[in-house]
Amino acid sequence: SAGWPGIINAYRDRVAVPDGARIVTLHEGGTPLLEAPHLSELVGCRVLLKVEGLNPTGSFKDRGMTVAMTHALAEGSKAVICASTGNTSASAAAYATRAGLTSAVLVPRGKIALGKLAQAVAHGARILQVDGNFDDCLELARKTAAEYPIALVNSLNPVRIEGQKTAAFEICDVLGRAPDVHCLPVGNAGNITAYWKGYSEYAADGVVEAAPRMFGFQAAGAAPLVHGAPIPNPETIATAIRIGSPASWNGAITAKTDSNGLIDAVTDEQILDAYRLLSAREGVFVEPASAASVAGLLLTSADGRLPKDALVVCTVTGNGLKDPDTALRDMPEVEALPVEPGVIASALSLG
Ligand code: F0G
Repeated sequence: SAGWPGIINAYRDRVAVPDGARIVTLHEGGTPLLEAPHLSELVGCRVLLKVEGLNPTGSFKDRGMTVAMTHALAEGSKAVICASTGNTSASAAAYATRAGLTSAVLVPRGKIALGKLAQAVAHGARILQVDGNFDDCLELARKTAAEYPIALVNSLNPVRIEGQKTAAFEICDVLGRAPDVHCLPVGNAGNITAYWKGYSEYAADGVVEAAPRMFGFQAAGAAPLVHGAPIPNPETIATAIRIGSPASWNGAITAKTDSNGLIDAVTDEQILDAYRLLSAREGVFVEPASAASVAGLLLTSADGRLPKDALVVCTVTGNGLKDPDTALRDMPEVEALPVEPGVIASALSLG
């Protein structure tokens, strides 16, 4: 096929799929590693953004989903199920469609961003809104998959992690080395686990000299890894990471410990500040959860934990179009103008 072939074909030797499997792909991955001049200036480091919102369904989940769906199809599954704060369900719905499978998605009622719900509807997923939070949904999805012939495509499924680790490969392949520090938002903790696996594999095989320090950031109202215990009623504006009991708890702690990194919390205010800075100063529109990585960059720069002159990558995990409601909160009240050029010029203070 023409152009970037998707992460399974790009990393055939490092991402295992069943022999003879039909690869279910939307040509995910190959996302930009973008210089962030304003952030670089602010923190005194070279800061790059791994822009995962440019994946086919607008988030990093597609990297894991191509592998999960390829396995599900090869194993003869007819249906897949997942719990989701929105992005996993959008991705599962699209890739299931591509595979010719049915998808069922369990989402917390009223707590999923509009764009994500729209995607699940558009791709024809069976949407089950649950009167509970993400953690309740995951428990239900897990139990259903254990008892019925339906494949679980959450990151509890280790093949999801295998796909998501390719983002670390891409970064190293572009830079010719690993960064010194990698900042990520953390919710269910699959992604930090996956990046650490990817960097560790490259380091172990001598593709890069050393793996980066992993800096993970949770929302302050949903920061079980920071508090050291599950949070029964997590709350944050960043609905994607509104998770109280991360499935990959151990993976996150290993990434932190083995990389001499850290996991900390950022407030909703810090998340929104970073969200606005990314769109207004870097030209990169992300969803709120994605901005947690940049909020954490600014936090650790301010308190001295971020080393000066480091090479830093921040993953921005999802596209801003996912959550139009949050963006529109910043829209000023405006009245419609008459169809007159002079009025437009004076409204813009040009006349
Ligand atoms: N950023 C975005 C945009 C996400 O959608 C998620 C997780 C994360 C960060 C955190 O990644 O869970 O691997 O630590 N979204 C999941 C979902 C939970 O259902 O879409 P994580």
